[in-house]
Amino acid sequence: MRKRKKVVIANWKMNYDFYETTSFIRNFLKIVFERKINHNKEIIIAPSFPFLHISNQISQGTTLNIAAQNIHHTDKGSYTGEVSSYMLKSIGIQKVILGHSERREFFLEKNNLLFEKIKIALKYNFNIIFCVGESFLERSKNKQFEIVKSQLEETVFRCTSDEVKSFYIAYEPIWAIGTGKTATFEEVQIMHEFIRSLFFDKYGESVSNRIYILYGGSINDLNAKDFFSQKDVDGGLVGNSSLKLDKFLRIVQS
Ligand code: PGA
Repeated sequence: MRKRKKVVIANWKMNYDFYETTSFIRNFLKIVFERKINHNKEIIIAPSFPFLHISNQISQGTTLNIAAQNIHHTDKGSYTGEVSSYMLKSIGIQKVILGHSERREFFLEKNNLLFEKIKIALKYNFNIIFCVGESFLERSKNKQFEIVKSQLEETVFRCTSDEVKSFYIAYEPIWAIGTGKTATFEEVQIMHEFIRSLFFDKYGESVSNRIYILYGGSINDLNAKDFFSQKDVDGGLVGNSSLKLDKFLRIVQS
């Protein structure tokens, strides 16, 4: 079976200005280099749009990757205020987060639109960090498996097995995001195993073995290790705790 390396993604959301972004990344790279801590790990930071270019320049030649937090579903046109994959590609960005629950909730992004975004991202050869996850109400009715399955069926599973190689799946129960509440390690493992089994049913063993499934939702430096040691958890998508350098470093080292 193919061994998957661990992946840690910092989702900075709408935080940090130019100075905070660049000094964090410089300091982070310096420490990672000195302590040689990213061996066999993939580390990705997703800053805000205005700082993607400089962040990407700073991390050139290092193992740090920079991701965008969103893209528009077309490549150009009259969409005031929007940013496209065509533009991001021209500054060297190759990864994008899609389907985050905050985009679904505050910007009303539905699975159909997300599939359009997936198509344009694939057209520009992006790696896609695709988020799925149930609400508190859905979990309390034990509907989490049904919800996650339909989120995948309406988006990622409309892609070919070749296209699916460009994905990381992030399971993020909505009620655990930014709340300090987390799913238990067992609940997360069960959901990840379920997601992997869906990939197995749809695309077969080799795709299901290689697909990265990350957990997100109130990961911090104290719980990261336990999440990351679950069999089907290949790393994490980290919000709040990725904004403090020392905390984020401890998570990366978990
Ligand atoms: P959190 O956010 O770590 O602050 O819960 C995770 C996310 O939204 O990706």
